[in-house]
Order: sequence, then structure tokens, then C-alpha cells
Amino acid sequence: MKFSPVIAGCMKWGRWGAGFDTAAYQQMINTCAVNKITSFDHADIYGDYTTEEEFGKALVNMPGVRQHVQLITKCGIKMVGPQRPEHHIKSYDTSKEYIIRCADRSLKNLHTDYLDLFLIHRPDPLMNPHEIAEALTHLKNAGKVLHTGVSNFTPSQVAMLHAVIPVEVNQLEISVTALDPFHNGQLDQCQQLNIHAMAWAPLGGGNLFSDKPDEKTKRILAVAEKLGKKYNISADNILLAFLHTHPAGIIPVLGTSKSIRLAEAMKAAGVKLEREEWFMLWEASKGHPVP
Ligand SMILES: NC(=O)c1ccc[n+]([C@@H]2O[C@H](COP(=O)([O-])OP(=O)(O)OC[C@H]3O[C@@H](n4cnc5c(N)ncnc54)[C@H](OP(=O)(O)O)[C@@H]3O)[C@@H](O)[C@H]2O)c1
Repeated sequence: MKFSPVIAGCMKWGRWGAGFDTAAYQQMINTCAVNKITSFDHADIYGDYTTEEEFGKALVNMPGVRQHVQLITKCGIKMVGPQRPEHHIKSYDTSKEYIIRCADRSLKNLHTDYLDLFLIHRPDPLMNPHEIAEALTHLKNAGKVLHTGVSNFTPSQVAMLHAVIPVEVNQLEISVTALDPFHNGQLDQCQQLNIHAMAWAPLGGGNLFSDKPDEKTKRILAVAEKLGKKYNISADNILLAFLHTHPAGIIPVLGTSKSIRLAEAMKAAGVKLEREEWFMLWEASKGHPVP
């Protein structure tokens, strides 16, 4: 299983953000290719169930590209809206039948025969690991899905599923402002079981760039800017380097809709911070030194 050192997160490329048309999707995909960003992160729900299809429409008209990229998508959240009139309340569904139906729909939307990685989007309080394993095994055996994993799962939820089918990825909210995975066992488990850790909202979902930064944000950005000068990269890319430096090999899923930012982000992929520099960012986030 191979992903680019930065994954392009597509959540805000469509209706939930930039509102790209087909040409703009193609321009982003091209920029990614030029900068060796080959992995794209989706979920069925993005753009109220529209972004996968828009991306697929762009990709299908780019001959020769599909085999050089990795498509990631997720299932299991049921949203309410005009695209899904049969949903009456926001809920989760990890039944075998629903997982398989979602995968088939994503394959159709993305105009592809296979998904490189298929994730269960959120832990479902009603999940049955045997049923999830059956669904994922069925999809793998049919060649529709190459790799499988989860997102936002706690260590005990991963352990429960891993006992019946290997969990290959856990995609988690990890950033300088979302430090929980560093001490709640999620990243320990990734290292222990060789599970790929992916970080969603690696820049805090963009909150760090607010016009009215709070004290914590000011502290973080002051450190990031100082380190940026040393490494000759921007402050936001220092925040990606904070993730790259961790021994779990965290891969950021970057949500920008600006091609220039994606290109710049690849520069951070080679940057490993010194230990004290890493802890400067940690301290700026926590507001106090480590105990
Ligand atoms: N598994 C899950 O449960 C889950 C949940 C949420 C998201 N995700 C995935 O993670 C990806 C990233 O999430 P995210 O978009 O919330 O987080 P993010 O990558 O931390 O933040 C992206 C946001 O920050 C803004 N930004 C970046 N650099 C900036 C700068 N220098 N100045 C001003 N604004 C800047 C971007 O705006 P511009 O577009 O203007 O650059 C964009 O709105 C999503 O696309 C999705 O694929 C997964």
C-alpha cells in the first residue's frame, strides 16, 4: 500500500467549499500530479453526496491518469438531504449490505473499477465487527477494494475489528491543535500494529488562519513562523512537518483548494524537526511545558 507523502483532501473542492467545475477539478488533479501528490481523499457524503461524482467526471476525461493515482473513500455516515430522501435522521450504518452498496456507488461515481482504500468513516455504536469484516472481505475478493481501514476509531474499536480483519489505516484528526491521538493510544496502536496513520484537518481545519486569532493560535504561529525561517518553508508547512516528524509516519490529508498550497506542502514532506523544535510547537499548543 503506497500513498503520496501528502494526500489531497477533496472535502472542500465541491459544494462544501470551492465549488469547482470540471476544469478546476482537472487543474487540481494536474497540479497534484506535477507535484507528485498521487493520493486523493474522498467520502461518499462530501458535498452532500456530490463531490465524488464531480471528481469522477473530471478524472474520467483525463486518459492515463487513473492508474497513477490512489483513490481513498469512506462510508458509514448517513446524512439527511435531497440526495438521500430515504434518510430521516443523521445516523451511522455499518451493516454488510450498506457497506457494499456504498462501495458500489463510490465506484460508479468515481468512474473506476477499484478503490485503493476504503474506510469505515466513523465508529458505529451498533457495529458488528464480523459483519464489517464480511463486507470488506467480499469487496476485496471481488477486486473492488484493494485496502481497507477505519477512521476516527478508538484503540479498542480498532482492536475489536483487527481481531477479525486486518485494519490497514486509521484516519484521525491530528494536528498541533488536536493532540489527543499522541496520548490516547491511537498512535501507539498504529505503531504497534503497523497501521498507517492519516491526519485529517492537519492544519486544524483552517481555524489557525482566522482573522482574529486567539492566544493559543498566536503562540503556535509565532513558533511556526520562526521555524519556517530556519527550514525555508511557510508556517503552515511547519505544522505539516510537525506530523511528518512523528515516528508513526503520519500522512497529512490536506484540505486546501489552492493548488499553490498543495505544491508548497510537498516541500514539508522532507522536513523532520529537531526534538526541541517539535516540543516548542507542543508547548505552544498546550500553553505549558511538558510535565
Ligand atoms: N476522516 C474524517 O472524519 C475527516 C473529517 C474531516 C476531513 N477529512 C479529510 O481531511 C481533509 C482536510 O480537512 P480540512 O480541510 O478540514 O482541514 P485542513 O487541511 O487542516 O484545513 C484546510 C483549510 O485550511 C485553509 N488553509 C490552509 N492553509 C491556509 C493558509 N495558509 N491561509 C489560510 N487558510 C488556509 C484552507 O483554505 P484554502 O482552500 O483557501 O487553502 C482550507 O479551508 C478533508 O479534505 C477530508 O479529505 C476527513
